[in-house]
Amino acid sequence: MTTFEKAERLRRLPPYLFKEIDRKKAEVKARGVDIIDLGIGDPDLPTPRHIIDAMREAVENPATHRYPAYAGMPAFKAAVAEWYKERFGVDLEPEKEVLALIGSKEGIAHLPLAFIGPGDVSLVPTPGYPVYNVATLFAGGEPYFMPLVRENGFLPDLNAVPEDAARRAKVMFINYPNNPTAAVAEVDFFNRVVEFAKEKGIMVCHDAAYTEIAYDGYRPASFLQAEGAKEVGIEFHSLSKTYNMTGWRVGFAVGDSEAIEGLGAIKSNVDSGVFEAVQMAGIKALRGDQTCVQDMIDVYTERRDVMVEGLRAAGFEMETPKASFYLWIGVPEGYTSARLVAHLLEEGVVVTPGNGFGEPGEGYFRIALTQRKERLAEAIERIKAAKL
Ligand SMILES: Cc1ncc(COP(=O)(O)O)c(C=O)c1O
Repeated sequence: MTTFEKAERLRRLPPYLFKEIDRKKAEVKARGVDIIDLGIGDPDLPTPRHIIDAMREAVENPATHRYPAYAGMPAFKAAVAEWYKERFGVDLEPEKEVLALIGSKEGIAHLPLAFIGPGDVSLVPTPGYPVYNVATLFAGGEPYFMPLVRENGFLPDLNAVPEDAARRAKVMFINYPNNPTAAVAEVDFFNRVVEFAKEKGIMVCHDAAYTEIAYDGYRPASFLQAEGAKEVGIEFHSLSKTYNMTGWRVGFAVGDSEAIEGLGAIKSNVDSGVFEAVQMAGIKALRGDQTCVQDMIDVYTERRDVMVEGLRAAGFEMETPKASFYLWIGVPEGYTSARLVAHLLEEGVVVTPGNGFGEPGEGYFRIALTQRKERLAEAIERIKAAKL
């Protein structure tokens, strides 16, 4: 039998920390246990009706069946720019400062190919969304991990980045509202990031996938609201979570025109853009009635309250999140993240161990509010029964 030797870049992939959980989950499932999966950040709510209708109409038009304009349809880019102006007060030039993406993950994964090479460093938050690290490794670069700790509000301490790493860094990833910690950042933090990036000559990539999921009237900021941000970086955005469109694969990058151009150059050699019918549905999402977003937030708010209250009553410690649909919860004394997760699995509740997002996540676990309220209440009962 032929064996195919894997490329060095695949061998450099970090170990998949959820393997043991996946195995255990399959084992518990095979025993016939009813599983409540709070592990995955994939909305259970459907895409709003008016967006589906726009897609249906668009797909009937044969003009959408051809290769799309690679960087995005002019009308899509204009809708993005309008939305940014309305939502954040940020001006964008649609042609140069907006790029359509096949979901924000795609853009994040491709960006280092444009700006990182061997010997270059990316500053990567940890715990964090794994793609920042993996995309850096794929590009032949080296991640320098910036720990996110509770004492610092889960913001990276820029002063703690060693001089050598800062000097070699080409790119810095940040993400607020944050996955997995649910922390938020204000414009004053983004101002400090801009200053740091200017001083060190680093491109900032802000992953803003969760800005629209926020509670109690809180409105998360855009990185581009910081003074001078557009000259030092870009922001990745997604329709996935805002409009329950994870399966549709549509997002966008906005900001510095050179960064947009570089990412676009990689993409035009790899993919051929977003299906135009999906972009037309995206235009409807961005330009249409936004009541659906508030309706979704109302659902998550109820779920958040059920879960935070129930878990606190069961002795768990956590902040009440201001944004995102995650809870970042401390594990009880005597447990590691992995042991706690294994224990809850026995009761049929799947949660994600914090260390799976990076070593400083040890001592935490993450819950996604992507199940119905009744299932969340049932999960709390099971967690109580687990007698931790
Ligand atoms: C922090 C963060 N960024 C980006 C993404 C990717 O979203 P999409 O590719 O669907 O736009 C996710 C998805 O879970 C995420 O949690």
